[in-house]
Amino acid sequence: MAGNIITIDGPSGAGKSTIARLCALRLGLSYLDTGAMYRALTLHCMRKAVNLENPKAIAGVLADANLKVELTLDGPMRVFLGSEDVTGKIRTQEVTRNIHYVADVMQVRNYLVDMQRKIGETGNLVTEGRDQGTLVFPNASLKVYMFATPEVRARRRHAELKARGVDVSYEEVLEDVSKRDYLDMGRELGGLKKALDAVELDTSSLSPEQVAESIVKLAKARLKMQTRKIDKSLLERQRQAEQGK
Ligand code: DC
Repeated sequence: MAGNIITIDGPSGAGKSTIARLCALRLGLSYLDTGAMYRALTLHCMRKAVNLENPKAIAGVLADANLKVELTLDGPMRVFLGSEDVTGKIRTQEVTRNIHYVADVMQVRNYLVDMQRKIGETGNLVTEGRDQGTLVFPNASLKVYMFATPEVRARRRHAELKARGVDVSYEEVLEDVSKRDYLDMGRELGGLKKALDAVELDTSSLSPEQVAESIVKLAKARLKMQTRKIDKSLLERQRQAEQGK
């Protein structure tokens, strides 16, 4: 590993993506959203009308997905299926609901773990997911495990969905969050768990900026990394580009 790799793992809704993005910008690293890779493969399977209950069928269409990711230092991460940019198309409720079928398939995990390790070969990465510190980058320079109560995560997610005009109740979102926790934690390979050497951060009552600041401080103290000032609008521009706006 040539440069620093910082891993951020945790359940959905803990604030990982905003925080990982902020850390990457402050530390001058690229940002890898591994959930987006699972999402893109799920979209591919849905488009191919694959029987999602059949792991062999899912594994069978892996290679022709032609999945690619493009990382830039200050820009958004982009995800491609062949030459099609699907970055803005992978965040639908339908994709989210179907991911677990795809993420449970051993061949899918091995394929994506290999791809993620290749991306990490040059280092200089903040990578976010469920298994980054435990399985994909066990020798990462700094590992963070972040969490928040299911109620806080559901409240955040509910507000996000409402802002996007999605009509859904808080109770439904809470049920969804609990179900995803159950599926993510129970996954045999790459299941969500804290690496023994990860720093634990409870984000329940902290803003993303506060959490990012504590990770940046750790990176400066432990890894002697330099920080840079960022234009605040950069984060919003990145986020919007990744939502396909
Ligand atoms: O981070 P996200 O919500 O976009 O991730 C979507 C799903 O992808 C998540 O519920 C589980 C799966 N995932 C995974 O299994 N391993 C990862 N490293 C990242 C995501």
